Amino acid sequence: MEDNHSVHKICVLGLGYIGLPTAALLATNGFAVVGVDVNPMVVEAVNRATVPIAEPGLATLLKAAVNSGNLVARSEAEPADAFIIAVPTPVSEEKKADLSYIAQAAESIRPLLVPGNLVILESTSPPGTTRNFLAPVLARSGLVAGQNLLVAHCPERVLPGRILKELIGNDRIIGGLTKESAEAAKAIYARFVEGQIHLTDATTAEMVKLMENTYRDVNIALANELAVICAELDISAWEVIRRRAAGFAVYVLGAGKDRPSEVKLVALGAQ
Ligand SMILES: NC(=O)c1ccc[n+]([C@@H]2O[C@H](COP(=O)([O-])OP(=O)(O)OC[C@H]3O[C@@H](n4cnc5c(N)ncnc54)[C@H](O)[C@@H]3O)[C@@H](O)[C@H]2O)c1
Repeated sequence: MEDNHSVHKICVLGLGYIGLPTAALLATNGFAVVGVDVNPMVVEAVNRATVPIAEPGLATLLKAAVNSGNLVARSEAEPADAFIIAVPTPVSEEKKADLSYIAQAAESIRPLLVPGNLVILESTSPPGTTRNFLAPVLARSGLVAGQNLLVAHCPERVLPGRILKELIGNDRIIGGLTKESAEAAKAIYARFVEGQIHLTDATTAEMVKLMENTYRDVNIALANELAVICAELDISAWEVIRRRAAGFAVYVLGAGKDRPSEVKLVALGAQ
């Protein structure tokens, strides 16, 4: 298998809240990046260096990336050394993750794959998706994950409004279908990630992300319950939180700077 230092060109599929900042960071850190989106308006906006989404610092970064010549947007994927899939994985009415966008993205790169390529799934996905869903689609190329194709999962852990800060500063977890896959993916993220990069297997990485989201959801619900009870008792939830005893590890953030404005009470177990 080719060594990971041979990664020069990266194709990022999905130029939304996750894919676009990632593509711009990769481009400003020396990679030749082709950003791919099925929405022609997004492709056009990115090529004009205009941000289609509001995110602090992204406009400046995108301009630098496009002006350097290292980032171009396209409607279709093209051959590359590595592919990063950052497409939506919404929850369906049946409360299941809709993996159809991942299937479409994987299908679109399947004919382009050559031995030694690396495919990284960034989309939030149910545990087992990389191994049991993505790898079989990619296998239709005739390449075998773990033998002549590197496949890894690297979930995103960012909050909207702080995406660039968090993409750079957060610790990352990278799960490979093989150790070599995880290490190859690490070599890419290490170009711009200042946090720790932890390597594991793909399913564990998916489970870590799922548990982080679950933990956060439970804490948001807890904070909202607290707010309702405090309102009934005519006391201040903020005062309760400020006076919380050690061990009552609920962090409550108000609406405002760096936070989605609709959030009234958000409890975070970890900041
Ligand atoms: N937004 C966040 O804060 C956040 C945080 C952590 C994880 N995530 C996860 O990251 C993934 C991406 O989320 P997002 O917020 O960037 O989504 P988004 O909706 O902002 O962007 C997704 C982009 O993918 C494009 N797309 C869809 N199918 C495609 C295909 N086959 N090929 C190329 N492009 C395609 C869409 O046109 C869209 O522009 C999801 O799994 C999400 O759960 C998001």
